[in-house]
Amino acid sequence: MLVVSLAVLFVNFVLGQLHPSTFAKYPSLPSLREQAKILDEWRDERVSHIPALLKKYNIDAWLMSQREHAEDTIWWSIKNATEYAPHRRTVLLFHTNTSSLSGKPNPLRWVDNTGAVWSELREVLEVFDPYRLAINIDKDIAFGGGLHAGELYVLADELGDKWMRRSVNQPMLGIEYVAARVPSQLPYYRDLQEITWALIEEAFSAKVIKPGVTTTEDVEWWYREKMLLLNVTTWNHPRVSVITPESFPGWAGTKDTIQEGDLLHVDFGITAMGLNTDVQHMAYVLRTSKGEEDAPTGLKAGLRKANRMQNILLSKMQAGKTGNQVLQEVLDQMEQEGIEGQVYSHPIGDWGHAAGAVMGFTNLPVYVPVLGELPILPNTYYSIELYAYSFVPERNETLRFRVEENAYWVDEQRGWEFVRGRQERFHLINSDRKASSPLVIQT
Ligand SMILES: *[C@@H]1O[C@H](CO)[C@@H](O)[C@H](O)[C@H]1NC(C)=O
Ligand SMILES: *[C@@H]1O[C@H](CO)[C@@H](O)[C@H](O)[C@H]1NC(C)=O
Ligand SMILES: *[C@@H]1O[C@H](CO)[C@@H](O)[C@H](O)[C@H]1NC(C)=O
Ligand SMILES: *[C@@H]1O[C@H](CO)[C@@H](O)[C@H](O)[C@H]1NC(C)=O
Repeated sequence: MLVVSLAVLFVNFVLGQLHPSTFAKYPSLPSLREQAKILDEWRDERVSHIPALLKKYNIDAWLMSQREHAEDTIWWSIKNATEYAPHRRTVLLFHTNTSSLSGKPNPLRWVDNTGAVWSELREVLEVFDPYRLAINIDKDIAFGGGLHAGELYVLADELGDKWMRRSVNQPMLGIEYVAARVPSQLPYYRDLQEITWALIEEAFSAKVIKPGVTTTEDVEWWYREKMLLLNVTTWNHPRVSVITPESFPGWAGTKDTIQEGDLLHVDFGITAMGLNTDVQHMAYVLRTSKGEEDAPTGLKAGLRKANRMQNILLSKMQAGKTGNQVLQEVLDQMEQEGIEGQVYSHPIGDWGHAAGAVMGFTNLPVYVPVLGELPILPNTYYSIELYAYSFVPERNETLRFRVEENAYWVDEQRGWEFVRGRQERFHLINSDRKASSPLVIQT
C-alpha cells in the first residue's frame, strides 16, 4: 500500500501534476497590437513547416480557394492577425519550394474578383507541374474538408481535367498543420490556463455563490460577463451543473438553485491570442450552517479516482498510437485496477476541439470511427477529459467525478505534462466567509 502510494506520488511529482499551491491570479495579456505581432510570428513559424509537411505526405502543392464568409477551415490558422475574413476570392497555393517555384513566396496568394486568378494559377501549375495537388475535400474530417462545394465546382471548371485528375485528398496536411504548436506559445498558454483557473476559483467561491439563492445559470452568466472584463472570450457557453447520478451528459448546465451540500461542476474554457482552453473542475458547497469545514471523504475518494485515470491516460498516450489504441489500453488498465468510468479526450489549441486523434466520445466510449483512428501527434496540446464513477457512502449514491485539464507535449522522454497542474482538491464554497477575505488553501 505504502509502495503504491509512494509510486503514485512519484508519478504525480515527476509529471508535475500537483494541484498548484497558490490561487490563480489574472495575468494580463499583451496589448492587442503586441498580440498581433506575436500571433503573426507564430503563424510564420508554423507556415515555414508546410513544405516539409507536403514532402512527408508526398504532395507537391496544396491548393486552397475560398470566398469571404465561405472560408476553408484552415484559413483561420493561416491568416494574418489583422484579417477577419479572406477578401473577395482568396486563393492560396502552398508548394515545396522546388524547381520553378523555388524562391517564390510560399504560399502564392491571389485576391481576386475578376477571374484573373485562374489563368495565372493555370500558368503556375503548367510550369511547376505538381504531380499530386492536395485540395481539402475530405468527407469526414473538418480540417481536411474545408473546400466549399461551390468552390470545388469552380475549380473543376477553371482548372479542367488535367489538374483535377492530379488532385488528391490528404487530410493529414490540415490536421498536422493546425495541431502543431510552436514553443513560444507555451508561456502564453500558461497565462490562459491561469486565467481559466482564476475564473473558476472566483466563480466557485462565496463571492459569486450564495447557497439557496444563486442558480447554476447565474454562475454561467457571471463567467460570460467576467470574461468581457478580462478581455478574453470563449468558444463554448460555460456549463455549470449540480452533479447528481442523472446530470450527465449535459449539453447545457443543470437548472438548479445551488444548495449547501451540493457537488458542483463547471465545463468551460477561454479564447485569447488564437488559443483555447477547456477545463472542468468540481466544487463542494460546505454545509456551513452545520459547521462543516471540508468535503465528505467519499467525494474526495471520487476525485482521486478521476486523478488516477488522468495518470493512466497520459502514460498511455505515446505519439504514433491511434486514439483508439490508447483508449483501449486505458480501459484495460482501468479494468485491472477496478476503476469504472469513461474517457472522451481531444486535441486543443487553435480550436477548443482541435485537429487530430480523439480518445472516446461521451456516446462512443470504446471506439471512435475516423477521428479515433488518427495517430496521436507529438508537439501538440491535449484536453484530458474523463470521469470516474465512485460510490459515495455519505450520499448512498454513485456519482461521476468529471475532470478536464489541458496538457502539452514536452518531449519523447517526458511525454505530456499539464500546463498548470490539475485539480486534486475541491474548490470549497464557504458562505460564512466574507467575500473579500482570502480563502485558506487546505492541503
Ligand atoms: C499577411 O499580410 C502580408 C502583408 O500585407 C501579406 O503579404 C500576406 O500575404 C498576408 N498573409 C495572408 C495569409 O493573407
Ligand atoms: C520557401 O520560399 C520562401 C520564399 O523564398 C521562403 O520564405 C521560405 O523560407 C522557403 N521555405 C522553405 C521551407 O524553404
Ligand atoms: C482590458 O482592456 C482594457 C482596454 O485595453 C484595459 O484597460 C484593461 O486593463 C484590460 N483588463 C485586463 C484585466 O487586462
Ligand atoms: C441506498 O440506496 C439503495 C438504492 O439505491 C437502497 O436500496 C438502500 O436502502 C439505500 N441505503 C440506505 C442506507 O439508505
